[in-house]
Amino acid sequence: MLPKFSTRVFLAPMAGVSDPALRLQCKKMGAGLVVTEFTNIHSIIAKESQLKEKMKTIQEFIEYSDDERPLSIQLFGSNLFALEKAAKIVEPYFDIIDYNMGCPAPHITSQMAGGALLQEVNLTQQIFSTLVNAVKKPVTLKIRSGVTDASKFLFRDVAEIAEDEGIEMITFHPRTVSQGYSGTADWDLIKELKQISSIPIVGNGDITTPEDAKTMIDHTDCDYVMIGRGAMGNPFLFEQINDYLKTNSYKEYSFKDRLDSFFDYLHLTNQYKIKFANIKGQAMRFTKGMKGGSKLRSKITLSKNIQELEKIMNDAYFSS
Ligand SMILES: Cc1cc2nc3c(=O)[nH]c(=O)nc-3n(C[C@H](O)[C@H](O)[C@H](O)COP(=O)(O)O)c2cc1C
Repeated sequence: MLPKFSTRVFLAPMAGVSDPALRLQCKKMGAGLVVTEFTNIHSIIAKESQLKEKMKTIQEFIEYSDDERPLSIQLFGSNLFALEKAAKIVEPYFDIIDYNMGCPAPHITSQMAGGALLQEVNLTQQIFSTLVNAVKKPVTLKIRSGVTDASKFLFRDVAEIAEDEGIEMITFHPRTVSQGYSGTADWDLIKELKQISSIPIVGNGDITTPEDAKTMIDHTDCDYVMIGRGAMGNPFLFEQINDYLKTNSYKEYSFKDRLDSFFDYLHLTNQYKIKFANIKGQAMRFTKGMKGGSKLRSKITLSKNIQELEKIMNDAYFSS
């Protein structure tokens, strides 16, 4: 059974972005569910055998905190034996096991994983059944609409198979794999999926404002919405959407508030081993759209350690 979600707005899994500090920050700002970056099933298995030797747990490899719960781990990879093994390894630590069938990156699709699986009806059926039978925790799915424009309705069959096999919730980003991030997400397809499904549907794609979230919910009747790029460097969006859905109004935040929230993020990173390059990437996102932002980002790019980065951001804060 799915856990109870405190709000209808979820943070999307984003490789290199949704690290444990950002997830925790978004959770505190009102995200009802956060999901880890996608994780290779073979790496989980390889890591576990190393960790076992050192008497450590998988938490050393996939960092998280209990304050993020309910917490979903996203897996990718289609070898059924490895999938079963990896799912069993991570099950004790997470509340939901999510499966990635949407990633458009060629290095993923070429290994018959991510979005490429949408066209493999037999294999997807086996994947769902393997996962659902391997674990007692709820299994959810994240998909795109299809592979190419000609196959943009593949989601219909995949969703039906998923539901039959016991998948408990589907997140739908209605772009095709070949579209990447170009064009727009076709929200009509979310509406269609919601109509043909009896499990919860999470609508995803192109939400950057509270108004967008409400429009998606009103238009598609989806149960939840998931935010990716719109939440980058802007954790306030969760609070704003929650408020807007309840009261039709929300608090505006200044760029100074955004810089402030970057320091909150930075503070949270202390608990984890997040790569400095990733933290720098986050700093760039928190300055997006700011006056003088591009100058600031050139300085951020050149910073070599946390201390330098902190000084640059501090100077920006006091001169803004
Ligand atoms: C940098 C980046 C990394 C992503 N990594 C993942 C991932 O690991 N797993 C996944 O299912 N989707 C991933 N996505 C896709 C997002 O979860 C989401 O479906 C997509 O960005 C559309 O939502 P948005 O318009 O709100 O950004 C990623 C997207 C971006 C921009």
